[in-house]
Amino acid sequence: MPHLQSRSLRVYADSLEYLDQTRLPQAETWVCCASPEEWQVAVKSLAIRGAPLIGLSAAFVLAQYAAQHPGQESEWQLVSDRLRATRPTAVNLMYCLDAMEACFAQGPAALSERAAALFEEDRELCLQMAERGADLLAEGERVLTHCNTGALATAGVGTAIGALAVAKKRGVALHVYVNETRPLLQGGRLTAWEMADLDIPYQLIADSMAASLMAAGKVDKVMVGADRICANGDFANKVGTYMLAVVANYHKVPFYVVAPYTTVDKACATGDDIPIEQRDAAEIRGATGAFGDVVWAPENAPVWNPSFDVTPASLVTGWVLDTGVFDQAAIARGEHCR
Ligand code: MRU
Repeated sequence: MPHLQSRSLRVYADSLEYLDQTRLPQAETWVCCASPEEWQVAVKSLAIRGAPLIGLSAAFVLAQYAAQHPGQESEWQLVSDRLRATRPTAVNLMYCLDAMEACFAQGPAALSERAAALFEEDRELCLQMAERGADLLAEGERVLTHCNTGALATAGVGTAIGALAVAKKRGVALHVYVNETRPLLQGGRLTAWEMADLDIPYQLIADSMAASLMAAGKVDKVMVGADRICANGDFANKVGTYMLAVVANYHKVPFYVVAPYTTVDKACATGDDIPIEQRDAAEIRGATGAFGDVVWAPENAPVWNPSFDVTPASLVTGWVLDTGVFDQAAIARGEHCR
């Protein structure tokens, strides 16, 4: 029996398993993660993904490594440095590794306890932000979301999808539009699967359909997650979020970002300071993965493939954190950073 478990992570006394998100929704495959190298491969391929989950799984892998190599603090540091560099945009990874590094002097048992505490904290943060997000949702509303921000991406109910899940639990009827989220289809593969799991009525759309859906008056709110929120309120999230925010602003559709305080990076003054991960050209030229390879672009077609984009604070109606819901004036006063 795992002593800690979420929708996508199982933590045992001396091992870790993750749900391979590249194989969903066709197969629910649990994979053992036995080393930092295996974690890096899983994270780079997005088998483990979502800002909070990346950080939490890194904490457990580091604790596991320390237990297997006791008394080798300089080695732990090198491992931590390698984990930190695996995906640069989501700051939750840095938050978790900073917390673990602060415990190095106390030894492996303290590191395991710290990783477990981070997991429990995330579960609680999810609940708090989801309750606040659900307060914003009214009976019959149609909500558009992007990428995957649910239980798969966190230790708890999720961020933006967490809000939808809590609203559903309260008996609020919603209709959710799910952007499929090119190029890796976290919406089409994972969010659609979670909507069905939560029994929330939804329709899947291609990302390019969001504007005409709003023009037709079919969207009441947009809710997305975040990978890093800056001191000025700019935030990074899955590429396509910025386009959605521009379109929502044009159509006067309220646009909310839902995230835990662990996604806020006070040291990042503006979105210009966020490192944006560039990914492999093959993801744009075609699709590769567990279910086969297909290439539709000319071989070697030049590609630009940023994994995230930055939405400026001016396009955001509200920042829903575990600590409160902040409007633009509160963000300008730096209240989300306290
Ligand atoms: O590349 P991914 O799938 O890790 O990107 C995930 C997102 O952009 C999510 O919206 C973000 O991590 C918030 S999830 C709770």
